[in-house]
Amino acid sequence: MIRSVVGREIVAGHERVTIDVGTGDGRAVLALAAREPMALLIGLDANAASMAESSRRAARAARNGALGNALFVVASAADLPAELRGIASLVTVRFPWGSLLRGCLGADTWVAAGLVSLIARGGSLELLLAPAHRDNLLGVPAEPDEVVAVATATFGGAGLVLLEAREATTGEVLASGSSWARRLLGRTGRTGWACRASAERRPVLIRFRSP
Ligand SMILES: C[S@@+](CC[C@H](N)C(=O)[O-])C[C@H]1O[C@@H](n2cnc3c(N)ncnc32)[C@H](O)[C@@H]1O
Repeated sequence: MIRSVVGREIVAGHERVTIDVGTGDGRAVLALAAREPMALLIGLDANAASMAESSRRAARAARNGALGNALFVVASAADLPAELRGIASLVTVRFPWGSLLRGCLGADTWVAAGLVSLIARGGSLELLLAPAHRDNLLGVPAEPDEVVAVATATFGGAGLVLLEAREATTGEVLASGSSWARRLLGRTGRTGWACRASAERRPVLIRFRSP
């Protein structure tokens, strides 16, 4: 079951709320929900089909008393449900594409404003971005330095305070639980994980705090 609206009464019983915007298959949300039973984990994506399996797993597990703290919401970052406004101690955006990526990089300013609107006072926004020139970015940058500069200006302009911005380590990329990153990164035998497309796709980690 995918819930399209989250009421504040659902949020109330939890110590903190994390919203993963552009969650894709939602596996990172399920993993975090299992690790953090006192937190509410919300996966949000414009594409319902991508989250369907994780949503079904969460519903099945909840009937058995587990993963009752994971929810999936179908919405576009450009038009977020009002019920989510200001509830998240952490908003994550991991390896976005399309309008979500472009919104993180200064295009379509209402996307960045929407992401910022989710964050509770004192909460954080964490971006893992890895655009490449071949992604058909329609004018937004792909070089890490430019990505950092543009994302910093975008969210700084929307009122957030920059905490850090740098290239992400492979460990950080893996720890994010991103399924998409696992497609971009290749397992190279005994040497562990390495970025197959490192020359064209270097992930950056950018963290902000809401004042
Ligand atoms: C490359 S996938 C990454 C999925 C997941 N974060 C991961 O790392 O495995 C990008 C996701 O962003 C979602 N997306 C793109 N634009 C969006 C928007 N405007 N609002 C919500 N989701 C969006 C897509 O539907 C897709 O699931």
